[in-house]
Amino acid sequence: MLEIRQVSKIYEGNVAYRALTDIDLTIEAGEFVGVMGPSGSGKTTLLNMIATVDGPTTGKIVIDGKDLGTLSNNELAVFRRRELGFVFQDFNLLNTLTVEENIVLPLTLDGTKVSEMKQKAQTIAERLGIAAIMKKRSYEISGGQAQRTAIARAMIHSPKLLLADEPTGNLDSKAARDVMDLLDSINREQQTTMMLVTHDAVAASYCHRVVFIKDGRFYTEIHRGDNRQSFFQKIIDTLSLLGGYSNDVPSVRIP
Ligand SMILES: Nc1ncnc2c1ncn2[C@@H]1O[C@H](COP(=O)(O)OP(=O)(O)OP(=O)(O)O)[C@@H](O)[C@H]1O
Ligand SMILES: [Mg+2]
Repeated sequence: MLEIRQVSKIYEGNVAYRALTDIDLTIEAGEFVGVMGPSGSGKTTLLNMIATVDGPTTGKIVIDGKDLGTLSNNELAVFRRRELGFVFQDFNLLNTLTVEENIVLPLTLDGTKVSEMKQKAQTIAERLGIAAIMKKRSYEISGGQAQRTAIARAMIHSPKLLLADEPTGNLDSKAARDVMDLLDSINREQQTTMMLVTHDAVAASYCHRVVFIKDGRFYTEIHRGDNRQSFFQKIIDTLSLLGGYSNDVPSVRIP
């Protein structure tokens, strides 16, 4: 589904900065993969390149058989709109629009009929528990509701690959768990391939596999297996080996 081969990224600027070095990563269709690493380790940089908003300096990225490096800007825009879904830490909703209008945004760009958009929005809103707030504007809803709205928007066109950067970063632990439960069930029911960048070990424990990066390089990866509690503990242990997490490793157990 997703192949990242020897990808490096150097940000040119007054001082060139090497953000990623020789990253190799393969993600199978239907997999739910977490990416963790200290602040500044290159997680968002990696996600942005998969999201086609930025290109690698060297190396290649192939999604669903398409080598992103060979697509024109126009083809990239269409690819991004049709095949990818995004969820961000700060929700990225448009404040002047209602929840419903925010959710159907990706479809309006593709010229879908209004009745069909409303039907799809209603179905997904019911699924995500936000059907009652469809007419509210996005500044009138809570953080958890805003993140569900953002997930609805990211999912409405049934993307093949969902990319999420700290989707639970601004939520309390209950809302964060609800969001992770949602992503988990979407992954299972629709076989959507997912990639989740997170600092939160509880959120990461929902993934099938967690890849750790440090200083822009692959560090290690661990697999869940069938015991989430021991996976959670392994994530915590790996984070402490990784360093840079001394003050924010939670010591909670999953209830
Ligand atoms: N546009 C840019 N120009 C120059 N340097 C950048 C740019 N974007 C990111 N960087 C640098 O690249 C490195 C990796 O940044 P990135 O945002 O990928 O980190 P991150 O792992 O997502 O961190 P965080 O956990 O804090 O979000 C950082 O040192 C950052 O300062
Ligand atoms: Mg980041």
